[in-house]
Amino acid sequence: LIVAIDGYAACGKSTLAKALAKALDYRYIDSGAMYRAVTYFLLKNSIPLDDEPAVESVLKDIHIEFERIDGNNHTILNGEDIEEAIRSQRINQHVSLTAAIPSVRKKLVEQQQRIGQRNNLVMDGRDIGTVVFPHADVKIFMNADLDVRTRRRYLELTGLGFDISMDEVKRNLIERDRIDTTREDSPLIKAPDAVEIDTSGLSPEEQLNTAIKIINRIRE
Ligand code: DC
Repeated sequence: LIVAIDGYAACGKSTLAKALAKALDYRYIDSGAMYRAVTYFLLKNSIPLDDEPAVESVLKDIHIEFERIDGNNHTILNGEDIEEAIRSQRINQHVSLTAAIPSVRKKLVEQQQRIGQRNNLVMDGRDIGTVVFPHADVKIFMNADLDVRTRRRYLELTGLGFDISMDEVKRNLIERDRIDTTREDSPLIKAPDAVEIDTSGLSPEEQLNTAIKIINRIRE
């Protein structure tokens, strides 16, 4: 069974996806982490994100895996644990540009689909219910007020020790949503058969209960 969760930046997708995977005893894949890992590699190697041929030529050198360390998912790039580094504001500012490059999407979507062939899975992202798994058993589309999203992401980032203002966080969310919804290749849209959850007024527990109800209804 595949549960696909899509939605705007910072509306609680990964928190819900992790909790769901735990409750169902499924594998969780954070597809955004894969776009973040590619961005990390490109920035580290000074590959300009607007030079598509240059980006394409290094894709073969990028190997992304996930490892469970102390019960948490860690993103591993070419053997290096980059889980913390890919949450930085520098990555936030560039990742939507990376994610708009078709050759990057092709590589990552193929890897995501391969993982889905072998596992019961909860995967979150922007195109999971539309492109990666158009036949997913369960599709959830999440949204929340911009101010709620800003506050949540601000608390998360400052909690990780990043020095950032509420206003910077807000501007980044607006800009990423703009790029993610308007890019040509696989823009963020709600799949026609996705069930929408507005998480603005819901605690993580309430979001989990809502999602489990949706899944049980679909399974019946
Ligand atoms: O979910 P996230 O914020 O970690 O995702 C980071 C970026 O990666 C997001 O702004 C757009 C891109 N992304 C994507 O294009 N497709 C996905 N399936 C997941 C993420």
